[in-house]
Amino acid sequence: MCPALLPTAPPVVAVKGLTKRYGGVTVLDHVDLSVRWGEVRALLGENGAGKSTLIKVLSGVVRSDDGTVTLNGSDVEIHSAHAAQDLGIATLHQELAIVPGLSVAENIFLGQRKAQTFGVVRWGALRRGAELLLDSLGQSLDVRQDASLLSPVGKTMTAIARALSRDAKVLILDEPTAALTDQETAQLFAVMRRLKDRGVAIIYVSHRLEEVVQVCDTYTVLRNGQKVGEGDIADVTIPDLITTMAGRPVSTIFPAREGTHGGVLLRAVGLTGRRCRDVSFELREGEVLGIAGLAGSGRSEVVRLLAGAQHRRGGSIEVQGVDEASRAPVSIAGRHTIGRAQRRGITLVPQERRTDGLVPDTIERNINLTTLGRHTLGRVVMVPRRAREHAQQRHTDLAVRSRGIGQPVLRLSGGNQQKVVLAKFLALSPRILLLDEPTRGVDVGTKSEIYHLVRERAAQGAGVVVVSSELPELLGLCDRVLVMHEGRAVGTFDAATTTEDELLHACYGRTR
Ligand SMILES: Nc1ncnc2c1ncn2[C@@H]1O[C@H](COP(=O)(O)OP(=O)(O)OP(=O)(O)O)[C@@H](O)[C@H]1O
Ligand SMILES: [Mg+2]
Repeated sequence: MCPALLPTAPPVVAVKGLTKRYGGVTVLDHVDLSVRWGEVRALLGENGAGKSTLIKVLSGVVRSDDGTVTLNGSDVEIHSAHAAQDLGIATLHQELAIVPGLSVAENIFLGQRKAQTFGVVRWGALRRGAELLLDSLGQSLDVRQDASLLSPVGKTMTAIARALSRDAKVLILDEPTAALTDQETAQLFAVMRRLKDRGVAIIYVSHRLEEVVQVCDTYTVLRNGQKVGEGDIADVTIPDLITTMAGRPVSTIFPAREGTHGGVLLRAVGLTGRRCRDVSFELREGEVLGIAGLAGSGRSEVVRLLAGAQHRRGGSIEVQGVDEASRAPVSIAGRHTIGRAQRRGITLVPQERRTDGLVPDTIERNINLTTLGRHTLGRVVMVPRRAREHAQQRHTDLAVRSRGIGQPVLRLSGGNQQKVVLAKFLALSPRILLLDEPTRGVDVGTKSEIYHLVRERAAQGAGVVVVSSELPELLGLCDRVLVMHEGRAVGTFDAATTTEDELLHACYGRTR
C-alpha cells in the first residue's frame, strides 16, 4: 500500500483558516480544505463564492491575508506561481494560459530548462518529451503546431501535460469543461482517472453538477467566502448540493411559454457555411427557438451566419423590415457583417463571452459600451444619470454579484463577468436575439434569471434563438427545437411534447 493511503498519512494538500480580503471585503473567511492521495475533490459555490480566489492562493497568484497551507504534512509558503509549480501544485485557471505563437511542445515545457544543454534548446528532445507526456494521457497531438490554434480540448490537454511535466502532486482544474464538448469532457475525465490512479490529488471546480457527481469523490461548498458544507459525493444528491450552495432550495423553474406568436421575423433558406448545409427555418415574433446538436454539428455556425460573424457560402436570409410603416421582409444580400446585422436588429451573444466582450473598465462602462448614444440629450450631450440608471437596472436583472456598478469588471468572478457581457448585448434590445450557450459558467440560481429575461424579451415581441448543449434547458425554455446533425437540420420538435431522449436520438441522427 502506498504510504499516503495509510489512515494516518497526512493529506497531500491542506489549507487551514485561509482568509483573503479585498479592500475591506472578506472573500475567503477562514476556509479549511484538504485533499488526499488519489482523491478528486469538488470545490463548489455560486458565482463569486470564492472558488477561484482559493485556487489562486494555492497556485501562488494571490497572497492570502491569513491561514496556512501544508503539503504532505509540512507547512509551505507559496510566494509566487513559480514557487507553487516547484512545490508540485499545477493549476489550469479559468482562463487557460496558452502562449500564442509557441508550439504545443514549447507550451508544455514553458519556462523550464529540461531540454537545454548549456542554454541551447534541444528541439528534438523537447518534442519527444512532449509527445511522451501527451501519450501518457492517451492523446496524440502534433506537438509542432501553434498551440493557440488547437481546439479547446487540445489546449486543455496541453495545459495538463505542462502540469505533468513538472511532476504535479496536486492538480487544480478551474471549470475545465466550460468550453469542452461532451465527447471532449469524457476524454478529460479519462485523463483525470489516470492521474488519480497515479495518486495525484485533484481539486475540481465546476458549475456542471452532473459532471461533479460523475468524477469527484468528495466536495467542499463555499458560500460568501465561507465553507458551508463538505462530505462524500456518494452521500448527496444534486439538489442537496444546490441547496447548500445557495443556502435555500432552488429549482430551475422555467418561465411559462407564451402561446401566441406574431409575424415571421426571420426566414433562413438553404443556409450554408463551412459545416452547416442547406439549413432552413423561420423565427416568429415572440418565439424562442432552440438549436440542439452534438459538437461539430454546425449549431453555432447557424447563429454566426445569421449574425454576420461568419461568411455565408449559400442560402438566403430574410428579416422583417424595421420600418414602422412597412414590415415587408428585407433580404440580406451582399456582405453581412456584425455591424450591419446589428443595424437590422440582429445581435449574437457569442459563446466565448469573456474574451469577446470586456474592456478593462467599470461594470457600468461595459454594460453601456454598445448603447452610449442612447444616454444622451439630442444624441450629443451625455446624461450620466441615465447611463447609470440603465446599467444599474441591467445589473440587477442579471443578479451580478459585485460591490456596485462602479467596480472594475475584471475584478468580478468569472461567472459574474459573463453576466456583464450578456447585459451589454441585451442592452441593444435586439429584435432578433441569438444566444450561444447563454448559461455556460453561471450558477443554477442565475440560470433561472437568464431564462426569465429571455422569455421577457420574447413576450415583448423579440424572436430568440438559443444554441445549447443542455437538452433540458432547450426543452424547458424554448417553443421549438431545431436539431442539427452533421451540418444538416434533421428535424424540428415541439418542446412541450418532446422528451430528452427523443432529442438526443435526433442529435445522433437516429430517427425512431
Ligand atoms: N482582484 C480583485 N479585487 C477585488 N475583488 C475581487 C478580486 N478578485 C476577486 N474578487 C472578488 O472576490 C469574490 C470571489 O471571486 P471568485 O473569483 O473567487 O469567485 P468564484 O467562486 O470563482 O466565482 P465563479 O463561479 O463566477 O467563477 C467576488 O466577489 C469577486 O468580485
Ligand atoms: Mg471562478
